[in-house]
Amino acid sequence: MVINRRYFLRRAWKACTAFLGGAAVWTSWEMLKARDVAAGGKITLGNPVDYKDGTATYVREGRLWVVNAGGHLRALSQKCPHLGCRVPFCDSSGRFECPCHGSVFNIGGEYIQGPTPRGMDGYALSVEGDALVVDTGSVITGPENSVQNFDSTAKGPSCAAGG
Ligand code: FES
Repeated sequence: MVINRRYFLRRAWKACTAFLGGAAVWTSWEMLKARDVAAGGKITLGNPVDYKDGTATYVREGRLWVVNAGGHLRALSQKCPHLGCRVPFCDSSGRFECPCHGSVFNIGGEYIQGPTPRGMDGYALSVEGDALVVDTGSVITGPENSVQNFDSTAKGPSCAAGG
């Protein structure tokens, strides 16, 4: 079989397109997926009074969020219970909004909407001396979707909606 120039270029173009598409998908997945917490150890989080009501503070070392939901401190995994994407906190809505398939959680990590099978998983918190400590080796499975102990009202526009 004789391969002419046009045939060769068409095949090369398709191969390059497929490669670039695959690379784009791989890169997107690497950016969105949550990484597992490395060691499963304890992390000191500072003074509990530094976590003000209505705030969510990201702790890079533990790849988790520390939230103050109406005076209740909780440590929440950044990993979405649906398929494991990293879940950011949306300051404008005051909710966690997963960018992958639209699951939304209130500041306490409880289910609001989307395909997630449960609320956000968490970790055990304790106070040792004056410091808040999270034990990333002690995972607390997220609450059932029917559980509603915290306010789910949006403070403002959703980040996912571009607002
Ligand atoms: S991974 Fe979060 S909604 Fe699917």
